[in-house]
Amino acid sequence: MRASLQLARAGLSVCVLSKVFPTRSHTVAAQGGIGASLGNMSPDNWEWHFYDTIKGSDWLGDQDAIEFMCREAPNAVYELEHMGMPFDRNADGTIYQRPFGGHTANHGEKPVQRACAAADRTGHALLHTLYQQNVAAKTQFFVEWMALDLTRDADGDVLGVTALEMETGDVYILEGKTTLFATGGAGRIFAASTNAFINTGDGLGMAARSGIALQDMEFWQFHPTGVAGAGVLITEGVRGEGGILRNSNGERFMERYAPTLKDLAPRDFVSRSMGQEIIEGRGVGPNKDHILLDLSHIGAETITKRLPSIREIALRFANVDCIKEPIPVVPTIHYQMGGIPTNINGQVVGTAKGHEEVVNGFYAVGECSCVSVHGANRLGTNSLLDLVVFGRAAGNHIVKHVKDMKEHKPLPADAADFALSRLDKLDKSSSGEYTQVIAGDIRSTMQKHAGVFRTQKLMDEGVKELEQLKERVGHVHLKDKSSVFNTARVEALELANMIEVARATMVSAQARQESRGAHAPGDYPHRDDENWLRHTLWFSEGDCLDYKPVHMQPLTVDTVPPKPRTF
Ligand code: FUM
Repeated sequence: MRASLQLARAGLSVCVLSKVFPTRSHTVAAQGGIGASLGNMSPDNWEWHFYDTIKGSDWLGDQDAIEFMCREAPNAVYELEHMGMPFDRNADGTIYQRPFGGHTANHGEKPVQRACAAADRTGHALLHTLYQQNVAAKTQFFVEWMALDLTRDADGDVLGVTALEMETGDVYILEGKTTLFATGGAGRIFAASTNAFINTGDGLGMAARSGIALQDMEFWQFHPTGVAGAGVLITEGVRGEGGILRNSNGERFMERYAPTLKDLAPRDFVSRSMGQEIIEGRGVGPNKDHILLDLSHIGAETITKRLPSIREIALRFANVDCIKEPIPVVPTIHYQMGGIPTNINGQVVGTAKGHEEVVNGFYAVGECSCVSVHGANRLGTNSLLDLVVFGRAAGNHIVKHVKDMKEHKPLPADAADFALSRLDKLDKSSSGEYTQVIAGDIRSTMQKHAGVFRTQKLMDEGVKELEQLKERVGHVHLKDKSSVFNTARVEALELANMIEVARATMVSAQARQESRGAHAPGDYPHRDDENWLRHTLWFSEGDCLDYKPVHMQPLTVDTVPPKPRTF
């Protein structure tokens, strides 16, 4: 919606097609804040943010894109403020900022207050602000439409998408001079996830099926604090406000793993430390399988004012009142660092012909994309920032590009054939397995074989299991053939996207023989910059892998050279 706003304000005809009502899209679940070095509460500057993001990424992030994002961050936030986004305020009227994992002053010296927050509902506030601005700018919304496949011509240019109107079951070709994906992540390929049920990797599946690479898909972020047994997110903002992780001995164990940043070390670090405590028998509960997040010292006033949704989530999903009792938490899948490769303008670039070659007419922004600002591990608050900075940049690029285009390129005669044949196969199915059985098996395979702790053996087995699952996906039985709001058909179509993302993840992970950020196979416990300081590209056809260099050269400042990561 940040991109569509640029287009609508420039007077272009823009349609936002969405599987759910726009204010229900998954950004609504982002809680703790959006990162920007405003320096409202402690000294800060964009170069410290830039440094933290590179170190957080375990040096896999592209330093040019990271510089662009961190420099633009304050303006991006002030723009949102001027649009009316209801940030919390300090006594002097400036935007309230809280500490967040991996965000530091002076290159790691101590935590800094950089997360601009609207209580613990920052994504909610952002989404509503952008929706209202889009309505005012006359963006058209096609609500409860599911995009099916990209339409490309013989030159490989993207001319639009085929899409299913869920209300009627009718299929349309939507033709556009440009197509931008902001289709979000695929956290629902794992069994335990903080993600909404809609996050099935639809944009990634569409891109992969049309021959476009998916980049760095081995890197999946486990958020340290999902509610144990339920998966619902407990924001890192809780630790930003002073919350402490404790093991079964009541020990603040993060002091041992990260003496400087403690509970506010980056997420890969904290999640692995929690896993280690559990493996070594210091987990909590009858099965010693979770950790406690203690807020009881923070006080009722701060919890009620700054973390109202967390209190409600803890009550509803863990049956604890966090003013008095700790919340049981466990590392839970939260975010994919990889995605559809793009450049700084949001243009999609990954093709078999050339790693930096632009796919004309096609853009991607946000979690479905990989402009590579997050590398091997994202810092909290940088996802909302990524959305608005690159959404705006892509919008501006599209406006310039479309103004030069007099006409639409002609659609190929077979533009809808691929999508129609996929639907036809489902409609003709009279036997086979149900979608939910296969989806459940994909989730348990991913959870077991691509978790916080990986081994070569687990990943090798995972690749084999997914080969069989891919075969099974080809034989789904759609029992209910009705047209109107047929959610069974939608779920079967989602399954085809889930399997692409799952294969991309496992095959890319199986090949990377090092530990970097969120990818930590026990067989290769160290980072190996000599051989693996490079991005993975996975192509669906034949499960092929390719690699491309990390952009080590920032736009205007000096390279931050790789070094050991301690906190
Ligand atoms: O912890 C959180 O509030 C999540 C934020 C994020 O993923 O950036």
